[in-house]
Amino acid sequence: MSIIKFIILCIILYGVESTVYDITTSSSNWQSILSNLKPGDLVTMHQGTYTTAGSGYFQLTLNGLLTQPIIIQGAPDEARPVIQNPNTSPDAQNILNIQGSNFMLKHLAFTKGSRGIRVGPAATFNAIFDDLYVYDTATTAFAANDAGNEYYNITLRNTEIKISNTFGGGCVYFGCVNDLCRMRDSLLEHNYCHDTNGPVGGFRPGFQVKPGSYNVMIRNNACYRVSGPCILVYDDYNRGRNFIVGNYAIQSGTGDFGIQCTSGVTIANNVIFSANLAGIGVTQNSVYPAVGYIRNVTISHNTVYMSAADACLRLNGATHSNILIANNVFYCGNQPAITAVTNLASYQIYNNAINGPVSASGIQPDGTFNIEYNAFFDPNKMNLYPAVKSPLINAGINLDSQPVAHDFNGKTRSNAKPTVGAYEYSTVVNPGCQLNSSFKCGSSTAITPDYFI
Ligand SMILES: *[C@@H]1O[C@H](CO)[C@@H](O)[C@H](O)[C@H]1NC(C)=O
Ligand SMILES: *[C@@H]1O[C@H](CO)[C@@H](O)[C@H](O)[C@H]1NC(C)=O
Ligand SMILES: *[C@@H]1O[C@H](CO)[C@@H](O)[C@H](O)[C@H]1NC(C)=O
Repeated sequence: MSIIKFIILCIILYGVESTVYDITTSSSNWQSILSNLKPGDLVTMHQGTYTTAGSGYFQLTLNGLLTQPIIIQGAPDEARPVIQNPNTSPDAQNILNIQGSNFMLKHLAFTKGSRGIRVGPAATFNAIFDDLYVYDTATTAFAANDAGNEYYNITLRNTEIKISNTFGGGCVYFGCVNDLCRMRDSLLEHNYCHDTNGPVGGFRPGFQVKPGSYNVMIRNNACYRVSGPCILVYDDYNRGRNFIVGNYAIQSGTGDFGIQCTSGVTIANNVIFSANLAGIGVTQNSVYPAVGYIRNVTISHNTVYMSAADACLRLNGATHSNILIANNVFYCGNQPAITAVTNLASYQIYNNAINGPVSASGIQPDGTFNIEYNAFFDPNKMNLYPAVKSPLINAGINLDSQPVAHDFNGKTRSNAKPTVGAYEYSTVVNPGCQLNSSFKCGSSTAITPDYFI
């Protein structure tokens, strides 16, 4: 097998032999190399297209050690190598099934197949997926949802996902319906999900976390033209809140909410621009059956700008407990700023800037104040930073119990008198990145402050 270029050198670390492999498209045994890795092994794949057999599973089991992870990476100075299944259809095999612990995949691209990357079927932990491009899979691009599993410490970051073929799936699916499996203590950050609008209708969210999953941080991701909600999180089953922080959704969902949640979640510093349904929707969907009502939801310092066919904020469900809604912008023009089916007299609703009718009863007087278009720098250019002398400036309430220390740009907030909305006003011009529909803002270059730590 002289065409195979591998085993460049061996390093001895902690008494275990680690191997460095160098793979090119002419390495015909590349799948077998990847299938037999040991702790500390490092594989570099060079650019080009690698096609799996397609008939059976391509299953990797990578068991590294905390001090000696297994790393599979694309060559750093080259285009990402593309790993593909030969077929695209919901009946095809997934491109890759991967399970184990203490491993990292970095700078790789994946295309075709049914699902893209399926984390499983075994429970998996301490895994990092970094700088991937997953595109045009037939169903979900990245899934960790095998029944019976508890996944933890999974990071997916700096990854772009696009699914614009005739089948269509969502970008990320963590956990199982009815808590049949769950994801905990994990991170989705700086990912960019876009164009999940295949010609076939359906439900294709950006980042979805199923009921019973908890302590999942979803921060600084971006969605553009996603048909389901950009972020869809259900109920934490009182195990520990999920966080949705500093994300950006433009025209997502094109047929749905921007961000949808049920219970046990903090939603802060997000910018949601022109969702079809509510920019933020709290719904009684897959609620923890042992409790049966919506609870423990904080919505603070978000900027929701317009909705095609619904309210900027929608509260469904008749019974709620421990809901805090403060310092948000709900700017909805002719659509309702807030819609709720239940009377909100007992809710903690403070200092939200609104535009558009309110279709809810019981909101206390300091719950909302009105703003006009000139509150923003330039919405026509998607610039929702506060204008000079904007009524948003210093208009927020001090959230002592749940402070939001930074803003969307990662700048420090005034705790005493914060600016209302996702941006803290500090300079005349937005000091952060200028968002637009083509820029993957938040996906790879935005700063990542340690919120809530
Ligand atoms: C989580 O996984 C990463 C990557 O394997 C590792 O570096 C980190 O130490 C893990 N965290 C914990 C708390 O084990
Ligand atoms: C959520 O609220 C319930 C009461 O409705 C409470 O028992 C529970 O501890 C809360 N969970 C969290 C994580 O705050
Ligand atoms: C979007 O923003 C990026 C970065 O600021 C810029 O390079 C790009 O030209 C912009 N695109 C459009 C369509 O305005």
